[in-house]
Amino acid sequence: MIVVGGPTSEALASKVASELGLEAGKLEVRRFPDGEKYLRVLTDVQGQNVAVIQSIHHTPDELLFEYLLMANTMKDLGAKKVTAFIPYFAYARQDERFKPGEALSFKTVSKLIESVGTDEIYTIDMHQHRVLKSSEVFSIPSHNLSAMPFLADHVQKLGKLQNPLVIGPDAEAEQWAKLAAERLHTDYDVFQKTRLGDAKVEVRPRRSNANGRDVLIVDDIISTGGTIVEAVKILFGQGAKRIQVACTHPILAPGALEKIKVTGVEDVIGTDTVPSPISVVTVAPLIAEQVKRKSG
Ligand code: R5P
Repeated sequence: MIVVGGPTSEALASKVASELGLEAGKLEVRRFPDGEKYLRVLTDVQGQNVAVIQSIHHTPDELLFEYLLMANTMKDLGAKKVTAFIPYFAYARQDERFKPGEALSFKTVSKLIESVGTDEIYTIDMHQHRVLKSSEVFSIPSHNLSAMPFLADHVQKLGKLQNPLVIGPDAEAEQWAKLAAERLHTDYDVFQKTRLGDAKVEVRPRRSNANGRDVLIVDDIISTGGTIVEAVKILFGQGAKRIQVACTHPILAPGALEKIKVTGVEDVIGTDTVPSPISVVTVAPLIAEQVKRKSG
């Protein structure tokens, strides 16, 4: 088994490899003077099962293209099986034509990933809203793992919250709120969210009341931070005591973290599916476990 990561997922791939007692495979990636990308696989992959780790986050078009080059080259060089681990899967939010004529980017990206010889794919807390299962877009075996239990464990370790109410800021976040609440043996609820623009949302509470409670807000992605800021306003307005925020993918558009921090939350934490200043929880064990199962 060979574990290899693209340039921006190199640190994660090394952690996964070291969890498995392996050394990560090596690549050479650079640009030609005209801007084209050059990629060379330096590890012998002939006859091997290869786990390619490539999170497709900032500069998603470039990172997607790197994945396509990696997977296709591995297959050309005789790899027996290529399993994609795409911890953050960009374009999943464009899973529908919201306006006539829009690209169905989720579908196009999935087709591209399959077209280069990917045999199986793993994602982590992939944004599945209207598309509820990855098998609706992939014809290869696909699996969506969750980092929420790891985030909940970290919150517990920090030990700042007493019997927290877990809140998902929109209906879709129920799956993550439920997972985190189960792990923390506590209750959860979700808010209702209406998106008014790329960076503008309206959030409304439902049943729960956070008066006198500590709260953990969980979501898959923090991008502009707008969703979290609106949820925090409601919760402090209800009389919440302390609030912590946890997300799987800290995409963090410029200014997002600052915007959240000034609301008075205790901590904002995320995982290393996207390297960021708040990526304090690693998903390496989650990936390593799957790689081990495949090779066992
Ligand atoms: C969308 O429904 C996602 O689950 C997140 O809530 C959203 O991507 C967060 O975006 P932002 O931080 O820009 O509000």
